Amino acid sequence: MMADVKEPWPGPRTREYLSLSERYEPRCMTQQAPVVWERAEGVVVWDVDGNRYIDFTSGVLVTNVGHSHPKHVKAVQDAAARLMNCYDFPTPARVKLAERLVEMTPENLDKAFLLTTGSEATEAAMRVAKRYTGRHEIISFYGGFHGRTYGAMSVAGKTGTKRGFGPMMPGVIFAPYPYCYRCPFGKELETCGLFCLEFLDRVVEAESTGDIAALIIEPYQGGAGFIFPPEGYLKRLEEWAREKDVLFILDEVQSSFGRTGRTFALEWEDLRPNLLCLGKGIGSGVPTSALLGESRLFESLAPGEMSSTTGGNPLSASAALAVLDIMEEEGLAENALRVGKLLMDGFLRLKEEVEVLGDVRGRGLVMGLEFVRDKRTKEPAPDLTWEAVLRLCRSGVLVGRVGLYGNVIRIAPPLVITEEQAEEALGIFSKVLRGL
Ligand SMILES: Cc1ncc(COP(=O)(O)O)c(C=O)c1O
Repeated sequence: MMADVKEPWPGPRTREYLSLSERYEPRCMTQQAPVVWERAEGVVVWDVDGNRYIDFTSGVLVTNVGHSHPKHVKAVQDAAARLMNCYDFPTPARVKLAERLVEMTPENLDKAFLLTTGSEATEAAMRVAKRYTGRHEIISFYGGFHGRTYGAMSVAGKTGTKRGFGPMMPGVIFAPYPYCYRCPFGKELETCGLFCLEFLDRVVEAESTGDIAALIIEPYQGGAGFIFPPEGYLKRLEEWAREKDVLFILDEVQSSFGRTGRTFALEWEDLRPNLLCLGKGIGSGVPTSALLGESRLFESLAPGEMSSTTGGNPLSASAALAVLDIMEEEGLAENALRVGKLLMDGFLRLKEEVEVLGDVRGRGLVMGLEFVRDKRTKEPAPDLTWEAVLRLCRSGVLVGRVGLYGNVIRIAPPLVITEEQAEEALGIFSKVLRGL
């Protein structure tokens, strides 16, 4: 057994750190179960009281190659000892990483600009799009999340991300995302003919001043509750954008590096975005992000017009190169598909038995479990979801809560998880969710 959590929970050292945190840290961070992480290996996390958990968070979809992977650790240690930062001077690690990213993404993406955070990558994408087109409007989607800096926050399709921080960046146009479990048009997928795409024309007709630079979209919406669009939606959206001369920005900050069972989620529909934002898993814990794009777009910026102090520094670039090696050598995308299927089958079985488990959706090793008071009315059950999060953590599986209504449990273990580890976790889910 990997998971091993002792009572009392939280333990004494955990309580000590929690009270220090309460005293010295602001409460603006995401609410988490009372677990103070001390160390981790692969998918197993130890807290400061020695309790052992199976990690189903990957620290918000970051540690794709598993915690403290020896090859990753060595790359970081070597880079730290050799050279950490040099600001915009090229280094072997940075240029090799740029080359590999360009080689592994669709061929129209022939430049890679390395940055530090996901928000920086989405900001940069919008800046490039505005400069290249000379236009200012950006289409974004209900429920969308692209980061917390001002431009990124302005395209957030969720009040929780921007409440009280206005005014926002002007020129953002919001369109419905296909949240099919709660279709904003009350339609059914079998018969809707992707009405939300047709509706996009009406949105633009009503809201645009005729100055649209780009649209920005996630291949699945993470923060909104792991909402996956129906097959074909993204490809049709891409075609729509091409027809309307609108640049297509795909925000793969969290969906990339094997998470959905392919290296990039865009592979599922053979998408060809003009700009591609990467983050999280690319550094697997070392702050790293990237904006991939077409050279014609980047050429609209003059030297010195866009850069970042630590972006692509040798430390983060070396870490990312190690991540790419590990992903290939260990077949992590394939593992995500294989173990993901086992988990998905298990959760779908549970959905039949658990009265409050309204929807189970996902791809590869990223899923959302949506909780409701009543399967017929679909009334969201955020309190119950939080109770489930606490009980799961107390039973040895670390999870977090997300969603437009705070009623979704995020399933996102590191991609190195084995079938046995997944079975053990499923056993814990089964016990906890049946007891809700
Ligand atoms: C789709 C997406 N874009 C952008 C971001 C922002 O990334 P960061 O927190 O690294 O700035 C996130 C983070 O959760 C994300 O999920």
